[in-house]
Amino acid sequence: MDLGLNGRVAIVTGSARGIGAETARMLAKEGAAVVITDLDLDAARETASGIEQAGGKAIAVQCDVRKEDQVRTMVGAGKEAFGSIDVLVNNAGLVKDRTILKMDEADWDLVLDVTLKGAFHTCRAALPFMHEKGWGRIINISSRALFGNPGQANYSTAKAGIIGLTRALSLEQARKGVTVNAIAPGYIETEYIKSLPNYDTILANVMAKNAVTFPGETSDIAGAVAFMASEHARYITGTTLFVTGGRYG
Ligand SMILES: NC(=O)c1ccc[n+]([C@@H]2O[C@H](COP(=O)([O-])OP(=O)(O)OC[C@H]3O[C@@H](n4cnc5c(N)ncnc54)[C@H](O)[C@@H]3O)[C@@H](O)[C@H]2O)c1
Repeated sequence: MDLGLNGRVAIVTGSARGIGAETARMLAKEGAAVVITDLDLDAARETASGIEQAGGKAIAVQCDVRKEDQVRTMVGAGKEAFGSIDVLVNNAGLVKDRTILKMDEADWDLVLDVTLKGAFHTCRAALPFMHEKGWGRIINISSRALFGNPGQANYSTAKAGIIGLTRALSLEQARKGVTVNAIAPGYIETEYIKSLPNYDTILANVMAKNAVTFPGETSDIAGAVAFMASEHARYITGTTLFVTGGRYG
């Protein structure tokens, strides 16, 4: 199936590693030029150079999505390097887990700011370029945790909030040719998770709750993003695709 991504330009935030890096690799394999952007510039450069070595087009740009000036510079660098901005994947995210009485204000602000304020800044910076072409795709990475996880009041709130942003923007942007959708991953194995000392316990807990018999991989999310970015998804906007191995609660 041709996804029609040849010649498109995609920004993937938090794409130095994990789900974001795999998503950028898949979009590049499908012909898109990609902006690898992250707090971690060295890792972003490594991801971008891997894509170039595989024959794709990529640049690495350091950016903290919480900072509007950095976001505007990063989006401008993508436009300058590749001529347009067609696809925006809001993937940067993190956890700061604590039960609510132990969670301090900084833990709350950090998780909400990266997820929600970050997406606010990136959408505002990228949309004018999508409007120039009358075509665009915004894909927000939420989480199954939007249904609520103990110890994750900040993360669950942020991941539920991003669904509200998705719905509002989908209605605002549909007539300008821009679709806005969310993907809610369940547990996805990344190199980072595999490196944790309690990885075996984490995996056993997940497998007790997944409906399917295997854990998700980064390519499961990358494939869903590539579909949402494609021509085949032109009639889909404002939705949330659950990629959770059948686990919802
Ligand atoms: N792995 C999972 O099981 C899982 C499940 C559900 C949802 N998600 C979501 O998927 C996304 C990617 O997850 P992952 O497991 O690959 O995480 P990860 O920690 O491996 O990668 C996240 C990347 O985001 C970057 N980042 C963090 N704060 C940033 C900021 N302020 N500005 C720019 N970049 C920043 C980090 O440097 C890192 O490279 C996140 O939004 C996460 O919440 C992951």
